[in-house]
Amino acid sequence: MSQRAESPGATWRQLWRATSEKLGDPVHTRWLLEEVSGADAAALLRRLDDRAPPTDVVRLESLVRRCLQGEPLQRVLGHWTFRGVEVVVDSRVLVPRPETELVVGFAISELDRLCRLRPGDGAIVVDLGTGSGVIALSIVSEREGTFVTATDRDLASLEVAESNLSRLAAEAATRVQLRAGDWYEALPEDLFGRIDVIVSNPPYVAEREWADLEPAVRDFDPFGALVAGPSGLEDIEEIVLSAPGWLAEHGALVVEIAPHQALSALELSRSAGFREAVVEEDLAGRPRALVARV
Ligand SMILES: C[S@@+](CC[C@H](N)C(=O)[O-])C[C@H]1O[C@@H](n2cnc3c(N)ncnc32)[C@H](O)[C@@H]1O
Repeated sequence: MSQRAESPGATWRQLWRATSEKLGDPVHTRWLLEEVSGADAAALLRRLDDRAPPTDVVRLESLVRRCLQGEPLQRVLGHWTFRGVEVVVDSRVLVPRPETELVVGFAISELDRLCRLRPGDGAIVVDLGTGSGVIALSIVSEREGTFVTATDRDLASLEVAESNLSRLAAEAATRVQLRAGDWYEALPEDLFGRIDVIVSNPPYVAEREWADLEPAVRDFDPFGALVAGPSGLEDIEEIVLSAPGWLAEHGALVVEIAPHQALSALELSRSAGFREAVVEEDLAGRPRALVARV
């Protein structure tokens, strides 16, 4: 009678080691193993000598392959946590960036300043070019009583934002309204002169810079989310110049920029008639966000 020797499957420990060797990145390795096993790192460490189900091994191989082809981790996982809010990330939207988490922090500081000036009012925020919705969703999650109108001209992005919104805590989700359209054209007219904070992470790459972007950005983020036009400043200019009319008294505009755009952004805010403007830095000390007040 012939006997078939079943080859025992790999343990999580063996998979961890093999994945780490292939990726050369311990943090990415941990993220992929947590994703595939459905366990957090602490639980996984307790199960290291268990054998992984074959379906998990196949899925891990596929995710590792995508990482090795240069796909950003957030896209490989298909979801990401932005300031504590879990969002779906796919080919329809920009991968949320850590610098944008800081931009949200600057917007929230402006909201808090306005709440000190006008206590008790429900603050009104607009997020222009919402993409996956991360800016809008994190603001309503972090500031009770704040209402956010989030816009995008790209309908596919709005589908992603809608699906991320549907997974937000129910009460916070009622305070976000999604609208389609070009920058300020997407807004209802009754918001004119009443917005406390306008926040935006617009496209700010120049057409000629696109080919030189890192492949992980150029090949995976939507072109329309990255590239503004020949100079890279086109969308920033449109947003800054029209903002004062839409803002309430003491309101603020917070816009993410590329570090080399700091001086131009300050000049634009002066031309627009803002009372004061500063450029805030990211954690690496690079100019990253225009904060302008009427
Ligand atoms: C850099 S992405 C930012 C996405 C998201 N807010 C974030 O921070 O991850 C820019 C977004 O602006 C949108 N957008 C580009 N041009 C636009 C326009 N003219 N009007 C409205 N939205 C626009 C893009 O579709 C994209 O979702």
